[in-house]
Amino acid sequence: MRRSIFPGSFDPLTNGHLDIIRRSAPLFDEMIVAVLNNADKRPMFSVEERCEIIREVLPSVDTDGCRMSVESFSGLTAHFAKEKKATAIVRGIRAVADYEYELRMALMNRRLEPSIETVFLMAGEEYSYISSRLVKEVFRLGGNISGLVPPTVEARLRKRKSI
Ligand code: PNS
Repeated sequence: MRRSIFPGSFDPLTNGHLDIIRRSAPLFDEMIVAVLNNADKRPMFSVEERCEIIREVLPSVDTDGCRMSVESFSGLTAHFAKEKKATAIVRGIRAVADYEYELRMALMNRRLEPSIETVFLMAGEEYSYISSRLVKEVFRLGGNISGLVPPTVEARLRKRKSI
């Protein structure tokens, strides 16, 4: 049984994350989307809401029979992966700029848990410029974010703004 985790902040989930899930899930029997409960950052969405969004959107993604679940975690990704008996950590690479950071994380995670491999997938080129940070910035400044995030994320951002 091949189980992986796909860790991230997902603040918020973007269509780029969904692209990586769609590409990577068929490689595994099970995948846990692991949402970091980052106490030291001030996320836009609470960890509960980030998990809720992912659970709402996942059924629309074709994961080719891979059993998907969503969990939040605190602490080290490598420890969470080990605790969940996952053999792989999935990460997406959008552009060369991501590579250095991702390489350092992968090597550190390997040092922490040598039995767990990081698996990198190249994002589709149409998603290569999308990040949660840019989506939030564009939205905050009145730009159009449709097509960058699932509709529920856009609706939730709008609702938040109108309060
Ligand atoms: O979506 P992000 O913000 O790029 O995800 C980064 C994430 C959550 C994968 C990374 O910050 C992480 O693994 N944090 C948990 C703490 C940890 O394990 N730190 C050491 C990483 S080598």
